[in-house]
Amino acid sequence: MSFSRALKIAPSILSADFANFGAEIEAVEAQGADWIHVDVMDGHFVPNLTFGPPLCAGIRKHIGTVMDVHLMISPVDAYIEAYAAAGADILTAHVEAGPHSHRTLQAIRGAGCKAGVALNPGTPVEAVDYLLDMVDLVCVMTVNPGFGGQKFIHSQIDKVRRLRAMIGDRPIHIEIDGGVTPETAPLVRAAGADVLVAGSAVFKGGSVANPGPYGDNIRAIRTACDTAV
Ligand code: DX5
Ligand code: ZN
Repeated sequence: MSFSRALKIAPSILSADFANFGAEIEAVEAQGADWIHVDVMDGHFVPNLTFGPPLCAGIRKHIGTVMDVHLMISPVDAYIEAYAAAGADILTAHVEAGPHSHRTLQAIRGAGCKAGVALNPGTPVEAVDYLLDMVDLVCVMTVNPGFGGQKFIHSQIDKVRRLRAMIGDRPIHIEIDGGVTPETAPLVRAAGADVLVAGSAVFKGGSVANPGPYGDNIRAIRTACDTAV
């Protein structure tokens, strides 16, 4: 995985057909997805429950691109090995998930994964200031984590701009997660983001039997961003 700030669209399988993940992933990759975003929720850090390590290991064989695993769990450290063994390329933990983010990020790299840190909308960008030398990705949440299909929080655009300035020349991805649509994507792209997670905006209107809309939806986000940079 060589570093680039080129635009990457990462469909979140939270909006896929839960009875058919393998085929959904293959369909969305064939339609132009750059990464596959997997939202892990524990019913404690966020008020929803999703995917354990065995499910991640099961879908891994269907992912031909990058498996981007977003851990919305607390505590994190005890589960890092299991999600790394399940085949995650990137493991992202929330800075709010515990008092020892520095240790968590070290453990993620120690397990052989790229390390990401995520910020909730209410968390200031300075929270990652002293972590930047040990991360490969910063995820700016543009909704409160827990559910797909929520409305984009515009105050986060300024956070992205400030984060981009803090990062400077470091090879760190800026990922946006929540409420990404062709309307909101250009705003965060222009502010410095390179990875756009999109769940409902990618999967709407399509299916494994009719995957064309997935491609149309991905292209609509890309085209909207082309005008932004
Ligand atoms: C929210 C998740 C997101 C979510 C995005 O907690 O982290 O990845 O699936 O969904 P949309 O794109 O529908 O806002
Ligand atoms: Zn996510």
